[in-house]
Amino acid sequence: MRRKKLLAAGIVFCMAAQLFCACGRERADEKEKIYVGVAYYDQSDTFVNQLIDCLKEQLEAYGEESCETAMLLRAAGGFQRIQNDQVEELIDSGCNVLCVNLVDRADPSEIIDMARDNDIPIIFFNREPVREDLMQWDKLYYVGAPADQSGIMQGELAAKLIQSNPEIDRNQDGKIQYVVLEGEPGHQDTIIRTENAVDTLKRSGIEIEKLSYEIANWNRAQAQNQMQQMISQYQNRIELVLANNDDMALGALDAYEKLNYMESVLPVFFGIDGTDVGLEAVRDSRLAGTVYNNKEGQAEAILKLAAALVSGQGVDTMELEDDRYVYVPYSKVTKSTLDQYLEEE
Ligand code: GAL
Ligand code: CA
Repeated sequence: MRRKKLLAAGIVFCMAAQLFCACGRERADEKEKIYVGVAYYDQSDTFVNQLIDCLKEQLEAYGEESCETAMLLRAAGGFQRIQNDQVEELIDSGCNVLCVNLVDRADPSEIIDMARDNDIPIIFFNREPVREDLMQWDKLYYVGAPADQSGIMQGELAAKLIQSNPEIDRNQDGKIQYVVLEGEPGHQDTIIRTENAVDTLKRSGIEIEKLSYEIANWNRAQAQNQMQQMISQYQNRIELVLANNDDMALGALDAYEKLNYMESVLPVFFGIDGTDVGLEAVRDSRLAGTVYNNKEGQAEAILKLAAALVSGQGVDTMELEDDRYVYVPYSKVTKSTLDQYLEEE
């Protein structure tokens, strides 16, 4: 199995050790069982799939110690109603902790009610419920990442590249003409990433000119379509493409490739996530940079919470914001910092 260098023995060891302790304590009377029910919004999301793979790997590593672990996975195909039914099924199957990646982050009430009726804690992840909902019950948590930081980092990466490569301003008008590919409307990451990336560019003294914004819902094929339209409208005026995630940055590249644009007239592209395909594109200089959405760290936080909640130890030893939130920091990825992120075969 492929593993991240980053993940390294460290993370797994710490988690295993911690869980081992939790189990050890329990074992005196009863063997710990962690049955995790994972419900996620859509099976076609590249980043969420990779995050869930991490969760699986890390839970298996837990399981190799003395705990009994199992994971049931359900993908909702983008329908909240389906997800509600799936959560009911996960509860009926005996899961003792739920990890929920909501379809509609504004609509978790039914799921929360079912969990509360059965006294099963929920760790929401990646798609953040609104605060009032998370405060509905004291066994609700959230694990994600600070959206503003990803936008700031994307802006910093772009600013640095533009400052040291004047030829990016291809028409030499002193301004960088840019377009944005945005994620789902209403997602906590979408607007915040865009705003912060653009503000950061401006604050670094770069003159920018927005040509267009298009929504592509995190999706590579949709991004390709949107980009093809923007290219036909703006021709080779586009100098910079800011995408809210790697899949959309790659979709934008696909559009240029499909139209047989020469490399020398391409804009520069930036993504966010550091998915496997995103990192490969940075390695091949197709993406100028990306921002690493730390899935290993998020999976670790989810499982730490799950273990603490199931064992009844409580979460006092964890650093939680407002007693409920874990935000795992992002980091910048360019070709020169890539090694620490790239997968080993
Ligand atoms: C974001 C991620 C996107 C997409 C989205 C789904 O954090 O950057 O690629 O996976 O979550 O909720
Ligand atoms: Ca220009």
